Amino acid sequence: MEGAKTNMCYNVLDRNVKDENLGERVAFYWEGNSPDHHMAITYSQLLGQVCRCANVLKHMGVRKGDRVAIYLPMIPELVYTMLACARIGAVHSIVVSAEIDIMVSQCSILVTADGVYRGEKWINLKQIADEALEKYEHTHTCCVLVLHYRRQPSVNLSPVVFPVVQTPWDAACDVCWDEVMGQVSEQCEPEWLDAEDPLFILYTSESTGKPKGVLHTVAGYLLYTSLTFKYVFDHQPDDVYWCTADIGWITGHSYITYGPLANGGTSVLFEGIPVHPHAGRFWEVIEKYRVTKFYTAPTLIGNVERTPLLTNPVTSCRYDLSSLRILGTVGEPINPEAWLWYYEVVGQKRCPVVDTFWQTETGGHVLTPLPAATPLKPGSAVRSMWLQVFRRPWPGIMRTVYGNQERFENTYFKKCPGFYVTGDGRIDGYYWITGRIDDMINVSGHLLTVAEAAVVSRPHTVKGECLYCFVTLKDCREFNRSLVDELKRQVREKIGPIATPDFIQNAPGLPKTRSGKIMRRVLRQIARNEKDLGDLSTLADPKVEEVLFSQRCETA
Ligand code: PRX
Repeated sequence: MEGAKTNMCYNVLDRNVKDENLGERVAFYWEGNSPDHHMAITYSQLLGQVCRCANVLKHMGVRKGDRVAIYLPMIPELVYTMLACARIGAVHSIVVSAEIDIMVSQCSILVTADGVYRGEKWINLKQIADEALEKYEHTHTCCVLVLHYRRQPSVNLSPVVFPVVQTPWDAACDVCWDEVMGQVSEQCEPEWLDAEDPLFILYTSESTGKPKGVLHTVAGYLLYTSLTFKYVFDHQPDDVYWCTADIGWITGHSYITYGPLANGGTSVLFEGIPVHPHAGRFWEVIEKYRVTKFYTAPTLIGNVERTPLLTNPVTSCRYDLSSLRILGTVGEPINPEAWLWYYEVVGQKRCPVVDTFWQTETGGHVLTPLPAATPLKPGSAVRSMWLQVFRRPWPGIMRTVYGNQERFENTYFKKCPGFYVTGDGRIDGYYWITGRIDDMINVSGHLLTVAEAAVVSRPHTVKGECLYCFVTLKDCREFNRSLVDELKRQVREKIGPIATPDFIQNAPGLPKTRSGKIMRRVLRQIARNEKDLGDLSTLADPKVEEVLFSQRCETA
């Protein structure tokens, strides 16, 4: 589509408001960390806020092609800012954790918030951002600050107890969101861009090695996310769709912001975590908004599976999940047991489960069943949606590794000339994603007592490195010495002596990102007893780390 002109923001907002007459339709139901905090945002309201934000960025000197770093929680301002960038042709880079250093060093503006409550834990985002800025001595980087809990009188806010930590503030470069948004107009002409102009750069998660800046462009990505959303979730005008991912990950970019908005969809935007204020939060939210299409990660399904709070603790009634029509999963292989629980208990055998396999690099789904059209197999992402093998490019494929075209070519195209290489293994004619082939350690999930396990390495004086295993037991199982011996024996017999873990630690929960990926970096540091774990703001449940430290194994 090179040479064609378009604008992403125009397509997902102006077109819906003006041509499709959807101005009054709700674009997002925002649901806060606390169930008392919520608001609805229509398409016209969204357009107005995005134009204001675009004008603010322009006043601050941001121009087409400039990069803007965004470090915000799951609040409406996150969507406003990313679409504002798209409107003026700026390239957004949403930062979720450790890569904040890399990002802020390359951007002239950072949009962040004072902080966020994740469950009961306050995370001081502004302070983390300031520390990253200081490291690079980026005095020119300007910080726009969203005062999270003091904004929007329209939000139904119960009193929030403010943390003792003060929000750091430097009047020389920090700017307050409310102030600047109030000073600009709600009109802003979109910048017409070339189809192949960059839309965003997103750093891939740590599970695939040293982070790379994946670059996506405007038109192909718009087409691909829009179409895959429409077909894979069988989008209908009366849908209320909810993807539980964080917008900071590709799933949120493609299937919270761009895909749903391009289709004029109504979505839930959820700030919270699945276990706060209780383990039934997901089902409570589905009931509250009558969610029809639900898209989450296997590990989150696994989590609730261990504490299946399908009953409302206050009313003692079962949550009403009858609105659900399609269930989706993404991010990790789903084991058949969890798949069946999802299908039978959550979906009440009514809802097809779409196991969507894809990557930051692919921009959108590449392997997935189509709901009610493809026979399903529990645990399989089934087969390619459009392609049989990745022999030719598709519209949503990444265009380069930012600043490193050579790495782009070597990583994806050299290993198997003529094909795109995802780096994931598969089993038969249907695709059963077996996990990363570059993950050197195989995790056996066959033991009946074990709900989940993760293995990392730890230095060993004789062997160089040895295996340190974290296991999460199913409810009611007790962790003790004889169980550890039994687990070691099973691994020795089923996989081989070389795979026997030296250490097995009890892990009531594993540290996971909000997109459901196990943070191996954190596990490695716990295994090595390294106390400074760095930025943990991406952890879905911030308490996990303390518990794991308290149960560390000192000796094998
Ligand atoms: O290993 C595959 C796994 O997640 C990797 C991509 O991670 P990321 O770029 O962060 O994107 C996550 C969201 C698309 C893949 O290489 N993965 C993703 N979806 C599945 C999966 N593994 C098995 N089944 C899936 N459905």
